[in-house]
This record gives sequence, structure tokens and C-alpha cells, in this order.
Amino acid sequence: MSLLKEEYKDHRSLQYMNLPGLKSFHTSCLLNLIILSLFLIGIYSNCLALPHSINKEPDFVYLFSYSTTKNNNHNGLHFAWSTDKKNWFLIGNEYSFVRCDYGRWGKEKRMLTPFMFLDGSGVWHCLWSVNEYDHAFAHVSSPDLVYWGRQSYPLLDKELTFKDPIVEHDGKIYTIKFKGKENQYFEVKTRDFKVYSEAKQIEASQYRSANVTLSLESGTFTGQVHRVRWSVAEKLIQKTEVANYRAILHDERTQQDVQRFAGLQPVSASFTVHADAVKPISNLLLGVFFEDINYAADGGLYAELIQNRDFEYTPSDREYRDTTWNSKHSWRLQGTNATFSVDTIDPIHSNNSHYATLTTTNGNASLINTGFDGIAVKNGEKFNLSLFVKRLKGSVKSVSVSLVTRNGKEIARGVIPVASASWKNIKTVLTATDSASGAQLAIRPLSAGSLAVDMVSLFPQQTFKGRRNGLRNDLAQTIADIHPKFIRFPGGCVAHGDGIENIYRWKNTVGPLESRKPQRNLWGYHQTAGLGYFEYFQYCEDIGAVPLPVLAAGVPCQNSGTGGAGQQGGVPLDQMDEYIQDIFDLVEYANGSAKSRWGKLRADAGHPQPFNLKYIGIGNEDLISDVFEERFKLIFKAMKEKHPEMVVIGTVGPTFEGTDYTEGWKIADALQVPVVDEHYYQSPGWFIHNQEYYDKYDRSKSKVYLGEYASHLPGRPNNVETALSEALYLTSLERNGDVVTMSSYAPLLAKDGRTQWNPNLIYFDNKEVKPTVGYYVQKMFGQNAGDQYLPVSTVLSNNEDGVKKRIAISIVRDSKSNDLIVKLVNMLPVNVNAQVDLTGLVPPRSAVKKIVLQGDPVDKHAKPQESSITITDKSTLALGPYSVTVIRLASDRK
Ligand code: AHR
Repeated sequence: MSLLKEEYKDHRSLQYMNLPGLKSFHTSCLLNLIILSLFLIGIYSNCLALPHSINKEPDFVYLFSYSTTKNNNHNGLHFAWSTDKKNWFLIGNEYSFVRCDYGRWGKEKRMLTPFMFLDGSGVWHCLWSVNEYDHAFAHVSSPDLVYWGRQSYPLLDKELTFKDPIVEHDGKIYTIKFKGKENQYFEVKTRDFKVYSEAKQIEASQYRSANVTLSLESGTFTGQVHRVRWSVAEKLIQKTEVANYRAILHDERTQQDVQRFAGLQPVSASFTVHADAVKPISNLLLGVFFEDINYAADGGLYAELIQNRDFEYTPSDREYRDTTWNSKHSWRLQGTNATFSVDTIDPIHSNNSHYATLTTTNGNASLINTGFDGIAVKNGEKFNLSLFVKRLKGSVKSVSVSLVTRNGKEIARGVIPVASASWKNIKTVLTATDSASGAQLAIRPLSAGSLAVDMVSLFPQQTFKGRRNGLRNDLAQTIADIHPKFIRFPGGCVAHGDGIENIYRWKNTVGPLESRKPQRNLWGYHQTAGLGYFEYFQYCEDIGAVPLPVLAAGVPCQNSGTGGAGQQGGVPLDQMDEYIQDIFDLVEYANGSAKSRWGKLRADAGHPQPFNLKYIGIGNEDLISDVFEERFKLIFKAMKEKHPEMVVIGTVGPTFEGTDYTEGWKIADALQVPVVDEHYYQSPGWFIHNQEYYDKYDRSKSKVYLGEYASHLPGRPNNVETALSEALYLTSLERNGDVVTMSSYAPLLAKDGRTQWNPNLIYFDNKEVKPTVGYYVQKMFGQNAGDQYLPVSTVLSNNEDGVKKRIAISIVRDSKSNDLIVKLVNMLPVNVNAQVDLTGLVPPRSAVKKIVLQGDPVDKHAKPQESSITITDKSTLALGPYSVTVIRLASDRK
């Protein structure tokens, strides 16, 4: 019953017909939708071979609900239907109608022994076992078996496990009976699937299984058989047909373009600008998403060169407690007659409890730090060295600190005094006399004795804008070159953390470095918090970007691997006042007077003026559960009351559709959340075929911050194909810049060899910054942003849908400079000859800047080329195959 290849071909030929009246892009999208719907309806009638006119359809059919053990039970709930209980037809070939969202990715998110039933009010329920060991089960309900609501994971007593549930209902109370360990049987009762009784053991005879085992085309499975109206089964079939059709569109790749566009001639495009219909769009449309993932902060943007400077690395920083990841990580002892140990007695600060103790009997031993994959040094470069030191025993009076190459050559040296038996912070400057890519830092006591060392820090003097505790100049500048209008920080998943204890707390990241609280980074490494809220705010100010901190909504990441089963444990409700106070305090830290409690901390750090914080994100693509909603509402309402001047950004889950998206939007509608954060990582085909995604958004509802998106191909490259699909989509974001207020590609940074996620926008190693093709697209749009959108109507010489979807234009004006900016994308393998009618808009001085990014779709190294061209009212521009072009018409009226 699936959409056959032949039918798909028919559909495409239907699309390829020249349809009259397809004048503008918007109209064509709408018409195509109508055509698609009509066409799909046609397919269903044909496929089912049951023409409505002669009414051969059954009134009722049998529906079998089941899951399989395939893919380690990750595939969720399936259906099959039958008219006679003998011949069964799979719906969507084991299409997953609902998947389990319990626990961590990979190992968890399993559905075992589902039990589905219809209650007296017409609502379907499904309960299942989440695994073989946890003391929890899952529940979800649905009005129609197509849309499934929020999942909940009720907890059982510690000794109990849950499998093979059945549910009995007496009109008021549901009794859930299940098997525990060793074939013991239990029951819990509930009226509403929210509050449950204690589990009680029952006799085996009280448990009557309602399961049947059936042989289907794909195997033999156990589940339940239900009698439903044919229309119910038909809707399920339709759902899978639409999903199959969309999957075909979203799988479109440029590698099929040779066949898809065989014989395609260069296309003529004529664009007419409607300057009279100009509309205001957001002046914050393009920003950046910064998360400490892929060593983006420590070992990356944060210019600190010493790894594990605080001796706080711990096995629990990493999943499965990696014992090599301990307080000595990146440190080693070199030389003879010496010892190196880690101590915790009388540390510099309780938040920083470990330090190194070095004992040498002959002054011939050094403590070596290997940096983050070595330390890159340029001849003549100056470094600020700082460390805390105290004398423990013996007569160590001074210590040599030097940079040494892998071959042992000393290329920078300083000597620091050890004058005290209590902690002293000593600073000096090291100047390099040679270059090296993998240098190390050596700390060598110059006589015998014992001393304690902590917070060993080495920064290049030349940080971004020369800031103390600052950022790596080249990386910070590369980001600044995008001209991002805002910076989101500190994540991503890092913001909501792996378990409640790991939620990112801003207060742990401000104040003197030795008092900051380092913590486990959920991407599997250590976070010093050296790049903390002060540094984020400072960087935003330095590049003229609006700060956008994102805080957890009182719940950790739904994929948490610690603290039990992820989300269902939010911050305890009796601690929520304190949690909310932390958010108020953040506002005071950023905006309060230098005399206020938290504003003073900012002033003490060197910034008496406020940072002008206006936007705060609450939540990061969370599972929208009752636990989430309760906490989000508390925060949102408290913020609205206390800080009505702040714009709170809500969250609507990790994808562009589905339960979290729908439930998140319901909350946003109910609370009138000003902006919501949407996320989606999709294929180039998805971006090509969803350019009208925001055209249909209700303008009276919440605005959108597209907080994370990127085009993903198998193997996850960042190449011309992914970048052009993003460019196409960016033109649609500009067109919808009245409803989409912000957007940020994700993630931003990745260190070579240290990636947990691909693709990213900017790769780097210790010496070099390597922007991607996607980066250049962001830069072209970021540097050429506008705050007014000029609608355009398009006439193409070829109206095939596949052609139309691959040509895009966006014209904006920047009201500050009064410059007009035209962006044109051609994702076709042929030239597009674009005539842009700019009558009345071309300034007298008609030499304009043109930037073109073009390349083979698989090219990962294409870069934009700039030139100057002359333009008239009706210039024709040749847009090369697979290219994006930006033309900036500088205004004479500034
Ligand atoms: O951008 C990488 C990750 O993707 C983010 O941390 C998370 O929010 C999303 O799942």
C-alpha cells in the first residue's frame, strides 16, 4: 500500500506541467499544496482500490497494535489491519506511530510489551515497559492514533520492574496489572494516568492477558487486536503515505541532479520588486549559537593554553568514569628524585579543592603540562603566566617556568619567587624566542623542597580586544566577521545539562577564576567555567551583538544519562523559588546598578556599566512533559511579573513537528510567550521543500527564534550542497522576518580531532581557523542584513516545481545605511539568467559590490569571490550553477 515508484513518477510529471497562473512564488507554493493534496487523495483512492462511489469499504476492520524487538526495541508502536483477522496488512511497513522518549539516546528510548486500549471517552492509551531494569513504565494517549500526546514515565517502588501490562477499567478507575521479576504479578490503580496508587502484588490468576500473537508479513508479533471504524485505519494508512511521499522529497540530493535535470536548459528568471509593499523585518535575524561542544570553549575560543590548570579533572567528567581522566590529566613529572601528587588540604578555594604537590630532592624535576594537544607558539609572542603557589617544606625559593618544544628546546623562560607558606598568586610574562606547534609548559623548582601549585594559567597577551582572561583572537574575529546580531550561550544541551546536578548555573561561572565552579561538560570533558557569563557578556558587547543567555527551564536534558530517567525529575518544586531567584539575580548582574548585590560583582570584574540584557531563553528543546510545563510556567509568570521589560524565549522541542513541537506551541499560545525557540537539523531536500514553512505561520501568535538548524547529509559534511540549501532557506527567513525574529546555525565551533558533532560552522586547530562553506553563507547574509523586506514577484521560463524550488531571491534594505541588498540563490546545475527589475531603486552611482559563492556540490572549500559590477534598472545577472550571489547597492543617502 505504499506510494509506488511509478506513482511518484506520475506525480512528478504532473508537477512538471506548465501550470497557468503560477506567477509568484507564494501563489505557486499554495497551488502546489492544493495540487499535492488532490493528488494524494487520488492516490489513496487508487491505492486502496475501493472507490467511494460504489462504497465497497468495510464499516469496521480489525487493527493490530504491536512493537517489535528489532533495533533493540527502538522502533516504537506499529499497526496492521485486517477485515477477517486472517489476512493482515502492515500499515506503512512497520511505520512507527509513536516512539519511546524515555532516557538516553542509544541505549534507552525503547518500547517493550506495549498495551494499547480505548477508554470509555474515546481516547486511546498505550502503556509499555521502557527496559528490563528500571522501576518505571511509560504512558501516552491519543485522540485518533495519529497524534500522540505527552509521554509520562511513572515511577514504581525500587524493587519493581514492569512488563506485559494489561489495563482493566471499571468506568472510574484504571487498574494496570503487570509482571514484575520472577513472574510475580502486581497492580497499580489510577483515575487519570497522572496520580497512581502504590503497587500491590496480586495472584497470577488475577492477571488475564489480552494479548494475541499473529504472523504478519514481517514476522510473528504479540500485541492487541482492536475493532475500529475503517476511517480510523484509513487515516493511519494516509499518514504513512504522506510520510513516504515527504521522505522522497526530503531525500533529494544534488547527486541525482544529472537524472533529475537531464536536458534542462538555462532558466530565465524575471524578478519584479514591489518597493511599495515594503515590510519591516527583524533587525536581529542572524546571530550565532555558541555552545561548549567539540572543545569550543576550553581548548578553543577561551584563550587559556593550560589544560586542567586547576587539577579538577575527575573520572565522572566522562561517561563510564574514565579513570585516566583524573586530576593529573595533561600533567606529568619529568626528572629524577621527585614526586608529584594531588592534595586537597587547605585549597585556594572550596570550589577548587585539588592542587598539585611537587617534591624534589635535587631541583632537577619539572611538572609538565601538555596543553590542549600541545601549545602553539610564535617567535616573539608574549604570554601572561599566572599561578598560585605556596611553599610546603624545604628551601624552595624560586621556580623556573618555561615553554619547551617536543625536542626539549627551551623557547621561553621566566623565574618566579616562592616567598610564602600561604597561597600567593604570582604573575610573569614569557616571551617566545622561537616558534613551535606542540610546546609544553615546564614548572621546575630551582632547589630541593616541596611546594603546592594550582590555577596554572598561560594566555597569549594578544587576546581578542586585549581582554584579560580573554578569547582567542583569530577565532573571536572569525565569529565577529559574520556580524552576528546576537550571541546565544552557553548552549544547547550544555545549558540544561545531563541530570539536575549538571544544569548550567550562571553563578558558578562569575567572579575570580579560582572561585568559579568547574564542572562536567555533558559532551564528555571538563568545563573550567573560565569562559563564563562575564566573558560572554563582554564578548557580545565587544562585537556589538545582543546577549542571549539560555537557561534550563528547571529540567535537565531529556536524554540525561544521570540522575535517573532524565526529565521526569525536574528541580524539586520546593526549590523552584530559589531557582527563579537565580534568574532574577542574573538580570541584576547584567543590568543592575554597580551598587546592587549582583551588579557589584559585575562592576568588580571591571564593568560598572550594565550589559543591557533584554532576551533570556528558558529551556532548550526540552521534552514537553507535565514536569516541564509546571516549571516553565512558574518561571515565565514570575519573570513577567518581576521583569516585564525582559523578553522570555520559550522552547518547542527538538524538531519542526511532532509531540514536543505541538505541545510546546500549545503552552506558548496559552501563556502568550513572546518568542519560541525552534530547532531542526534536516536534509538539504527538507530545506529545499520547506521554504514556505513560515509563510503559513499565524502572525498574531508567538514570534520564532530558529535557535538551531543545519543541513545534514550522510557523513555530515559541510559543503556547497548543504550551504546552498541553507542559503535558500535563509532567503525564506528574510521573507518571513516579521515572524522569525532570530536565527542561528548550530553548532558554531569544533576543534579538529575533538568533535562530538558534525557539521559545524567553523573548524580550528591550535594554529589555524578553518571556516566552512556554510560559514561563508552565514557571513554573506550576516554582513548584508536588512531591516526592511521588499517583496518580489518571480516569473520563470521553466515552471517545474523542482526548478522553482531551487531558485530564490530576497531583497532587503538596511535602514541605517539605506543600502539595498539583493540575494539570489541558484541550486540548479544550469545557469539562471536573472533579470532583476530595480526601476527607481538603483542609485546614480551604479557600480556595486557583488559577492558570489559557487562550487561543485561536494566541494568543502569553496569561498566567496568579490567583484565590482555596474548595474542598471534592469540588469541581467548570470547566476552560475550551484551559486549564491549577493549584490549590495550602496546608497548615496546615508
Ligand atoms: O547543536 C548541538 C546540539 O544539538 C545542542 O546541544 C542541542 O540543543 C541539539 O540537540
